Amino acid sequence: MSKKTQDIWSYAPAPESSKVVQIKEKYDLYIDGKFVKPSSGKYFKSFNPADEKEICSIAYGNEKDVDLAVKAARKAYNTVWSKLSSAERGKYIFRIARMMQERSRELAVAESIDSGKTIRESRDIDIPLACNHFFYYAGWADKLEEAFPGRKPKSLGVAGQIIPWNFPLLMAAWKIAPALATGNTVVIKPAETTSLTMMILAEIIHEAGLPAGVFNVVSGYGDTGAAIVNHPDVNKIAFTGSTAVGKIIQKALAGTDKKLTLELGGKSANIVFDDAPIDQAVEGIVNGIFFNQGHVCCAGSRLFVQENIAEKVIEKLKFRMASLIVGDPLDKNTDIGAINSKEQFETIQKYLKIGKDEGSEMYQSPCKLPKKGNYMAPTLFMNVAQSNIIAQEEIFGPVLTIQTFRTIDEVIQKANNSPFGLAAGVWSDKGSKVFNVTSQLRAGVVWANTYNKFDPAAPFGGYKESGFGREGGLHGLIPYLKFD
Ligand code: NAI
Ligand code: MG
Repeated sequence: MSKKTQDIWSYAPAPESSKVVQIKEKYDLYIDGKFVKPSSGKYFKSFNPADEKEICSIAYGNEKDVDLAVKAARKAYNTVWSKLSSAERGKYIFRIARMMQERSRELAVAESIDSGKTIRESRDIDIPLACNHFFYYAGWADKLEEAFPGRKPKSLGVAGQIIPWNFPLLMAAWKIAPALATGNTVVIKPAETTSLTMMILAEIIHEAGLPAGVFNVVSGYGDTGAAIVNHPDVNKIAFTGSTAVGKIIQKALAGTDKKLTLELGGKSANIVFDDAPIDQAVEGIVNGIFFNQGHVCCAGSRLFVQENIAEKVIEKLKFRMASLIVGDPLDKNTDIGAINSKEQFETIQKYLKIGKDEGSEMYQSPCKLPKKGNYMAPTLFMNVAQSNIIAQEEIFGPVLTIQTFRTIDEVIQKANNSPFGLAAGVWSDKGSKVFNVTSQLRAGVVWANTYNKFDPAAPFGGYKESGFGREGGLHGLIPYLKFD
């Protein structure tokens, strides 16, 4: 893109004020209705990935803290939560939803500061959807008998939940809301790089007056998560994160009667046929992989374009990429914020090198990058072979591989040739073709002529190494229930 065109596209900065959130110096654990210091006395630091500045200290919970939290959750389950009428439980969840909504601006800014995601994403997607999950499951609380007629649904007890860093508050909402609605109590751990909104949520839930012990937060690293997984008095584990850790958890739970849901990685195919509305498809491709820095488990990271339109689509894609704004996550104009952590930034760079070494052609948008912070330009790889590492492994960054195809059978075979099966997208003007393809794709969610659309009423989850169990919708209640 010429300098002149770039100037037309440039906007004056429009930063959201960081003053709407008062970030404390230190955040404690939340156990048995109280904010308490970790038993080791240890705290770890959380950073803003946009400028690498320290933002606060977070309590580092250990096995002892997890044990206290599980004991509190068990007591609350036995004495209060399982005895409460389901309508009363629903009222608490509605109250949490409303209080989150009242503080949504603060939550959005906190999420962007802590995670590096753009304010547009946190303000318009993460936080409203998180609130909506609480509203949605609040509605189910007193209708479980109707949801599962004749099956006598019963709660399990204590749910242990482990959250990733890519959608910190949203993934917490996906797990907490159905657990509480079904009558379970919760011990939850945020990801170590993005604990802040969970700490604010603990304050909200405290203010909402939830009985002590029903909801507990034990922040920390992987060992804290492992302590939750291995605690003998936890009835169910819900995990979202890497396939590697998912496998460790599944092994740890083998031979126990704990229930498990795993929502792991993905390498989702986004398929564009020659009869697709191309400009819309290009927008969908960009939305599918570049927004939220590609930190999306269901990101459309493998693009399949029908051969006869490939040149045109790539040209339009490059043009669109040149206008994407990479920079300050708090600026309302920003399309691509900061990569979540130094570690993740380095992981992505490692894959760029692998891609070039494998012989694929790399293209990076010529956009300006801020000098400091974990920023990178949206990246394409062309001439990618099906067997290449960059087409097989999850990169979890704004990196798209492009392959071409000629026939429907060929693209279905290529799209399904992956260890993962979380999501997919299909772009075509022809309804029958869309139904034909979507029904043959081995992926939990398939979008047609759109991408990355979420709704609390729609179940989400994977096939194969993308995990098992569903979150969201009526299906999302099942992992938290047992039936006669
Ligand atoms: P991770 O799987 O290590 O972290 C996810 C959560 O699990 C964090 O809360 C972490 O503290 C916890 N954890 C780590 N080890 C544990 C253990 N042994 N037992 C219990 N909990 C444990 O993910 P990480 O290292 O941050 O990211 C690595 C890769 O994973 C990314 O590059 C990406 O490919 C993938 N990922 C996928 C996500 C998804 O939404 N499916 C989310 C985050 C990462
Ligand atoms: Mg952080």
